[in-house]
Amino acid sequence: MKSLLVLATAALVAAAAPTPAPCAPAIAAPFARKTVSLNGDWRYIVDPYDTGYRDYRQKPYDASPNPTGGYFLDARPRDATELVEYNFDASPILNVPGDWNSQADNLFYYEGTIWYRRKFDAPKSTPDDRLFLYFAAANYESDVYLNGRKLGKHIGGFTPFDYEVTDLVRPTNNSLVVRVNNQRKLEGIPTSNCDWWNYGGLTRDVLLIETPPTFISQFSVRLKRGSANVIQARIQLEGPQKEQDVKVEIPELKLSAGARANADGVAQLEMPASDIPLWSPEHPRLNTVRIAAGADEISDRVGFRTIETRGTNILLNGSPVFLRGVSIHEENPLRGGRAWSEADARLLLGWARDLGCNFVRLAHYPHNEHVARVADEMGIMVWEEIPVYWTIQWTNAETLNLAETQLTDMIARDQNRASVVVWSVANETPISPERTRFLRSLVETARAADNSRLVSAAMEVRSEPNDPDHKIVDDPFGEFTDLLSFNEYVGWYDGSPDKIDRLTWTLKYAKPVFISEFGADAKQGLHGDKRDRFTEEYQADVYRRTLPMLQRIPGFSGTTPWILCDFRSPRRPLPGIQDGWNRKGLIGQNGLKKEAFTVLKDFYQSIAATAQPKP
Ligand code: GCU
Repeated sequence: MKSLLVLATAALVAAAAPTPAPCAPAIAAPFARKTVSLNGDWRYIVDPYDTGYRDYRQKPYDASPNPTGGYFLDARPRDATELVEYNFDASPILNVPGDWNSQADNLFYYEGTIWYRRKFDAPKSTPDDRLFLYFAAANYESDVYLNGRKLGKHIGGFTPFDYEVTDLVRPTNNSLVVRVNNQRKLEGIPTSNCDWWNYGGLTRDVLLIETPPTFISQFSVRLKRGSANVIQARIQLEGPQKEQDVKVEIPELKLSAGARANADGVAQLEMPASDIPLWSPEHPRLNTVRIAAGADEISDRVGFRTIETRGTNILLNGSPVFLRGVSIHEENPLRGGRAWSEADARLLLGWARDLGCNFVRLAHYPHNEHVARVADEMGIMVWEEIPVYWTIQWTNAETLNLAETQLTDMIARDQNRASVVVWSVANETPISPERTRFLRSLVETARAADNSRLVSAAMEVRSEPNDPDHKIVDDPFGEFTDLLSFNEYVGWYDGSPDKIDRLTWTLKYAKPVFISEFGADAKQGLHGDKRDRFTEEYQADVYRRTLPMLQRIPGFSGTTPWILCDFRSPRRPLPGIQDGWNRKGLIGQNGLKKEAFTVLKDFYQSIAATAQPKP
């Protein structure tokens, strides 16, 4: 077959300039910066064979310094004699942010490549400023091109990334082309099997960020570990003048301090302060933190609190706290598709608050940045998690590197959110020496990046071989986490609800016990005998039996029942009942509450009323 010679026109590729390296982790507090939003209508081309990415010999077009083929050239023929077999200008439109599955019937199950194209102008307000293209997420693999030049490839569907484009962008009529491929991969994080919908695309905000030549790329401001009256700040500068004076101010606390950044651009300082008003669910106090370095200044709203464990207690600001939680997937069931906006965050966290929650588990991957920011305001503590889910390739070095990168990028993005109290490195991973080694490495990475929060994972439970009613939690990974967290589905996957009443437990570790999942399916509005599966009565009965049973477990310190809302999953086909939805929600896909919602709400009200420090 003759290779397709595409004669590029206006998109003639600039001389082979060095491809800008992706900036990792992504620029902190993007919404606090000078930005141009690139959200909105993008043209798209569905490309299941990657025709726009590889030639017929499977050689990537962008592998050569002067590519003469590929959709990323956004080419148009100069006249009728030239052959160009694509045309973004005449292609359909997808809304960004947003998964493609929920925007077009023919994309509902689509797994493959879609090309996005957006034209934009890039007026710079200050001539020597720098410009970065920032993607809050793209699921799962993305290749980004600006005016025909490759900026880079990013792998991972739930964390931000950005590329500097200062020397590549034009004042007007820039062509931004993004290849997004959501095909599941055995070696991926997550792997190819999971119980949620594989929403693909530019699923979160896309921004053009403008910064001074030397700018504040990362910062953390928090209470010093083990102290409630010393605030510690670490600021990272990027740019030609790294060694600069850095100033941190917290006006509401009448605090101000300075330090000089070293040759690596790192400035560290401490601010002793007595009587800092601490953040808590009851008093979600946030303070404006202003950081200045040279021509750059940014501010963020930050809460100060301590979180630690002592024996089998979780201590928030030094006092025992019970985590009244619920698990949440990043999906807006009313609109359908991936949740991505502040409004989506307020909807989901509003339902959690109606439930009486002071805690949410954001399953099973980092949710969009708006969620932790809204949780800061609402006073809801948060468990964040990377999608090391089920049967990961434990001995694949590339897979471990992916997991480490997603973990450190998640921590870098949300390390200043007081609401985030737990970093979770896994969910329901079958026990093996390789798996425990992999997870232990992730715990060490998390603690090195942030020693101020708890680290955990949803671990495995087993039954005593000749006594199925006796549950044992002795997962070897429990040695390395701060919480002893595990999922249990007695009454749904494991026996019938009456088995719940007979359970006894043996826990190997004297740590706070956190039940990260329990529950049962129910189709909202389906009523019947409580022994009939998929009725609201059955689900409510599982909750009525499980909650008092959990209270009998020594060290029971909280739970996030599975799950706030019904969510889409291709693993749930039962016609007339599931129809492609996992029905364990306490709220149906129509936003209507099920009977079990009230059972849990009443339980949390009773817990909150008697919230006395445990002995
Ligand atoms: C598992 C898993 C969830 C899944 C749930 C279920 O515990 O962690 O992701 O959706 O069970 O089977 O409903």
